[in-house]
Amino acid sequence: MIFAAILAGGIGTRMGNVEKPKQFLLLGDKPILIHTIEKFYINNAFNEIIVLCPKQWISHTKDLISRYIDDSNCIKVIEGGNLRNDTIMNAIRYIEDNYELSEEDIIVTHDSVRPFITHRIIEENIKYAIDYGACDTVIPSSDTIIESKDGKFINSVPNRQNMYQGQTPQSFRILKLKELYNVLSNEEKELLTDAAKIFSSNDEQVFLVEGEVSNIKITYPHDLKVANSILKEK
Ligand code: CTP
Repeated sequence: MIFAAILAGGIGTRMGNVEKPKQFLLLGDKPILIHTIEKFYINNAFNEIIVLCPKQWISHTKDLISRYIDDSNCIKVIEGGNLRNDTIMNAIRYIEDNYELSEEDIIVTHDSVRPFITHRIIEENIKYAIDYGACDTVIPSSDTIIESKDGKFINSVPNRQNMYQGQTPQSFRILKLKELYNVLSNEEKELLTDAAKIFSSNDEQVFLVEGEVSNIKITYPHDLKVANSILKEK
């Protein structure tokens, strides 16, 4: 079985003082979250699409989905968690409560605020999560990456050829992700904010799926302007 988890559990503090979490802001004529859900909805690989959002936004999210999506039966809205990984774990808990899982079953996790995900990226995430157990979507880093531990002086300048920028989806065998996550201490859980890192730090291989420069994450107000330009181009 293959599940999609659309992560919309954040509140978008870096977006500044807006009246709602950024995933509900309009991009063109519909909310960012709806653009993202649509990309998964038109792909019929998924047994269920799970949308996770803050508790107080659940009924609003359900309303939006029934307004914009024809057949919302394959879409479930549930509560996210405090941290991004808690949100992913809530999705897994829901799946386990409702399906009999086997080792091969896959979850494709995607930021709700990356509305320009492509069909190819979704297909490759499914393929490589099945083949290798875990995959992450990345693009080669266009900027040189500087490492600094104190934010004042350089510790290292890794070879740019080996550097990538992480995007989403990140896709995993569900039971393996749960097994690796459950043995983490609370301190490790705070540090391993990236789900792919839970695999790589356990020496589990994570395959790199080629992302797209346009698969941007809307984080700051400027990103929403860029997203509107990308939408017009498309
Ligand atoms: N997310 C989530 N659950 C959380 C935190 C984040 O599902 N507890 C989701 C966000 O809704 C977003 C994605 O993860 O779609 C990427 O996170 P980010 O851009 O950091 O979103 P926010 O946490 O909302 O933003 P900020 O860090 O500015 O507060």
